[in-house]
Amino acid sequence: MDLEEDIRSLQLDSAEDINGVVNPEDEKPDVDKMDEDPKQEVQAQSVEAEPKAKVKEILSVQDEEDEQMKKRHLNVVFIGHVDAGKSTTGGQILFLSGQVDDRTIQKYEKEAKDKSRESWYMAYIMDTNEEERVKGKTVEVGRAHFETDTTRFTILDAPGHKSYVPNMISGASQADIGVLVISARKGEFETGYERGGQTREHVQLAKTLGVTKLLVVVNKMDDPTVNWSKERYDEIESKMIPFLKQSGYNVKKDVSFLPISGLMGLNIKTRLDKSLCSWWDGPCLFESLDSIEVPMGDPKSPFRMPIIDKFKDMGTVVMGKVESGTIRDGDSLLIMPNKDHVKVVAIYIDENRVTLAGPGENLRVRLSGVEEEDILSGFVLSSAANPISTVTEFVAQLQILELLDNAIFTAGYKAVLHVHSVVEECEIVELLQQIDPKTRKPIKKKVLFVKNGAIVLCRVQVNNVICVEKFSDFPQLGRFTLRTEGKTVAVGKITAL
Ligand code: GTP
Ligand code: MG
Repeated sequence: MDLEEDIRSLQLDSAEDINGVVNPEDEKPDVDKMDEDPKQEVQAQSVEAEPKAKVKEILSVQDEEDEQMKKRHLNVVFIGHVDAGKSTTGGQILFLSGQVDDRTIQKYEKEAKDKSRESWYMAYIMDTNEEERVKGKTVEVGRAHFETDTTRFTILDAPGHKSYVPNMISGASQADIGVLVISARKGEFETGYERGGQTREHVQLAKTLGVTKLLVVVNKMDDPTVNWSKERYDEIESKMIPFLKQSGYNVKKDVSFLPISGLMGLNIKTRLDKSLCSWWDGPCLFESLDSIEVPMGDPKSPFRMPIIDKFKDMGTVVMGKVESGTIRDGDSLLIMPNKDHVKVVAIYIDENRVTLAGPGENLRVRLSGVEEEDILSGFVLSSAANPISTVTEFVAQLQILELLDNAIFTAGYKAVLHVHSVVEECEIVELLQQIDPKTRKPIKKKVLFVKNGAIVLCRVQVNNVICVEKFSDFPQLGRFTLRTEGKTVAVGKITAL
């Protein structure tokens, strides 16, 4: 049986997953104000440009738990091969939802032209740093916000280039749903889809990281080599379906496809004009995003928020996504693994202060009782009565993907462990049992090493104490990836602590 089948079977049991969290490694906490992330530039502008009503709406419902939770919040990660049009589409969404004005677009058009990257101006909305603009490639995950009638969305614009897969993992691990952007341009779909192309790697990682629903957007339909061709669209869809199935997605339930042009802004906010594309009867991107149903974490379970970043601002502020439970102003919580007792002074969703927040929300939380220096990303803000587990060793079921140069995987193997916002060196200290990928049954023979494609139960050790949970208790805090020299070599789930 082939490797992809195996991945699928490993991942299928994660179908009920809740959501993910961030990975810190590229997010350097070097600022002392709330808008420290350069990527927030767009958001900051948008707040100015937008009517104050939005701010008011959230503020005015502060005291009403139900009201506050009314409009759901979803993190959407944009994934896909380099140059597929992720940033362009993300930028277009912000433009079409009224967050970026014409003047800014004109400014970007000029800047892009000066850099001989005319067609990249839309991507500049998401690609805010100089390196990204010069090279025309996203490096850091861009973050921006927009909302539809039913949902507040945070867009996480992942980089497609293979050098930046760790940043992509960071973005995807925070996401509830994924928009997989595929270029329909002649040759581009093919390169992305090939072995070694990031279309494949991103899909597999997304599934492993808990992105349960995928919207596959077939982009660049306006390109002269495509020209809204139904044949090209069908070809891409038919090639993607088997692969998505192998990666563990239930294509009927969890995946939908639609054609768009990110650059032209077509089939994004409004449906396609029949005169342009007679064969597409389906929804536009906003409608599709709106209608995706995602199971949310339990607001009544013990509170868990992995910390992705922290800074000083009238106290200590930590950032992260709530994985389970509810946080309220005045709560007494623990920062694990150090067991620092802290008190919640203020909670912010985007720039709005709220009195409580539940699963799925991206928060900034001001705390008293702890110094910023005493917090590291990867720490977890936890319920005091029922704190997260802390370990230096755990047992996990690993699916080996592709080892470097077909290396063998044995006790003593070292890799970098990515689990929620933790990034730590780890070592496989013992292989306990191999599992037959075909029958899913344990193989009796003692296992000393395994190769690509194997499923194996093993003991994993880390140098520093980390906060994790069993996959069966908190999927998002118990799933991980192992990477070696910049390549994802295995995915796994924690089975015992
Ligand atoms: P990375 O961040 O490097 O992974 O790339 P990306 O997926 O964010 O792609 P980006 O948005 O930077 O776009 C890459 C190129 O594709 C730019 O030249 C865009 O103008 C072009 N492009 C994106 N969307 C479309 C589209 O809908 N139609 C056409 N014709 N070109 C597009
Ligand atoms: Mg990009």
